[in-house]
Amino acid sequence: MGALKSALLIFLSMWTVCAAAQDPVPIFLQKHWAFPIPEQGSAPKFYTPLERSLQPQSCGICHTDQYRAWKGSRHALAMGPGVIGQLLEMKSMAEVRACTRCHAPLAEQEKSLLLHRNGDLHERGLICADCHVRRNIRYGPPSIGKNAARAHGGFVASDAFLDGRFCATCHQFGKDGYALQGKMLENTYNEWLQSSYAKQGIQCQGCHMPGREHLWKGIHDPEMSRKALSIERSAPELRHGILIASLAVKNSGAGHDFPTYVTPRVLVQIWQESGDEKPIRGTLRERIIERDVSPDLSAEISDTRLSPGKGMILDYRVPSDKMARYLVMRIRVEPDHYYAGLYRSLLSSLMKPESKALIGAALKNAENSAYDLHFERFPLRPSDKGTA
Ligand code: HEC
Ligand code: HEC
Ligand code: HEC
Ligand code: HEC
Ligand code: HEC
Repeated sequence: MGALKSALLIFLSMWTVCAAAQDPVPIFLQKHWAFPIPEQGSAPKFYTPLERSLQPQSCGICHTDQYRAWKGSRHALAMGPGVIGQLLEMKSMAEVRACTRCHAPLAEQEKSLLLHRNGDLHERGLICADCHVRRNIRYGPPSIGKNAARAHGGFVASDAFLDGRFCATCHQFGKDGYALQGKMLENTYNEWLQSSYAKQGIQCQGCHMPGREHLWKGIHDPEMSRKALSIERSAPELRHGILIASLAVKNSGAGHDFPTYVTPRVLVQIWQESGDEKPIRGTLRERIIERDVSPDLSAEISDTRLSPGKGMILDYRVPSDKMARYLVMRIRVEPDHYYAGLYRSLLSSLMKPESKALIGAALKNAENSAYDLHFERFPLRPSDKGTA
């Protein structure tokens, strides 16, 4: 009796330990993102051709809102010229897969890339099916409300879709991933884990998919980037011939470092201008917010990114030039700063004319993605008009 009772107790305590360890999310994700993702295989007989299709526009016939939002997102651009131009130069499957794992992971996309089968599936980037379809079965978050209609045999609901670890698959290097100065090259999930957002349970989806919208706006979107920063500035004052002003920024809205990757660069600048709004040489003062790495990624040069809640200030104290009529404050974002440099250096080493053309196009895109997050022109004389 005693032995039975203690066996029961041991069993019960083991059961509670196991139950605590059995967080279903990592178990689901390990299987869902096991790479390479196996081919879907043949679809159930009752699927219509539309339900069999992996093309995002096919999903979009029924899921119109998700399709419209996704189409305008960076995920839909994940196999742009900058990626394909590099893939074309690769010699082994292992090299290609080291990139497609995040940029276009489905086996069917690999086939269209390498064997010219399945049409243009790889060119569509990170498609609906990459996140939602395995072995012809649809997976998604638990429904909000009731679906009157049925299609593709319903779907399997998982809380993993509501969890930041779903995104970490591609936005966080694993334990053995490449690191510089003890920080992973891609460290977004860990940065988030240390922030107050993690403590409040605000997942990546909370900011990047509000209301389940498939937008994924980030550093390329001026409105989204403005949400990351609070800006305080003091208007210019002239004291004993010295122009005094300040421009302070704080990461008050990004759930990770601002910016999180090594690829963008943010310039915080103040300079003087003449009456015809021309910058006056020698009057520019600036601070750069970025994780600056060497082009071959072998060294970190500096890391001035702002972790959540952290700020920086540019103090301006420069003699007023005799031509000075305006003081300009600007925050400029170059989302693809690193890539522009990489593409310029690749252009001299690429072999195939086809990849040269693609990288040339990617360089143009990278150079054209910069924008002003903030711009203000203060008149230094009462009669002049400022602009913002
Ligand atoms: C299968 C890999 C994968 C998964 C899963 C994934 N992403 Fe991405 N994500 C990418 C890639 C690749 C890019 C870059 C696309 C490009 O610009 O070429 C990207 C880009 C982004 C961007 C745009 C960044 C910018 O520069 O503006 C945001 C924001 C983003 N992802 C958020 C998320 C969130 C939130 C999740 C989870 C719901 C998620 N991603 C899941 C691979 C993934
Ligand atoms: C762990 C996931 C992951 C892997 C693996 C990965 N990338 Fe990316 N890649 C991303 C994310 C996330 C972004 C967007 C953030 C950024 O711009 O840095 C991105 C952006 C890019 C961009 C710039 C955006 C664009 O579409 O032009 C290029 C080019 C690129 N990756 C090429 C590659 C190549 C080549 C490889 C393989 C050597 C590779 N990536 C492997 C996640 C990944
Ligand atoms: C990068 C991964 C990713 C891609 C690509 C993606 N989704 Fe989603 N999808 C998600 C996540 C994550 C959620 C859950 C978001 C949440 O609940 O916060 C979701 C939710 C959904 C839902 C449930 C919406 C609701 O209101 O209940 C549908 C339907 C859906 N996606 C369809 C699509 C379609 C169609 C596409 C392509 C046009 C697509 N998804 C592309 C990750 C993705
Ligand atoms: C013929 C119309 C149709 C097509 C095509 C279609 N779906 Fe659906 N989908 C539906 C309907 C209807 C539901 C609701 C099903 C249910 O509750 O049983 C649904 C449910 C879903 C869900 C779950 C939504 C939730 O609440 O979590 C996801 C995810 C999803 N579809 C993704 C896709 C993807 C990805 C594709 C393309 C590969 C696709 N669907 C193609 C009609 C369609
Ligand atoms: C509190 C809101 C918030 C949360 C939570 C959040 N983000 Fe962001 N994220 C932003 C804002 C705002 C930006 C634009 C400014 C920037 O780039 O930092 C951004 C930018 C990005 C970018 C663009 C690339 C870059 O260099 O900045 C990616 C990728 C991204 N987030 C992924 C994620 C992932 C993955 C998670 C979860 C681990 C997450 N975000 C959590 C608000 C958030």
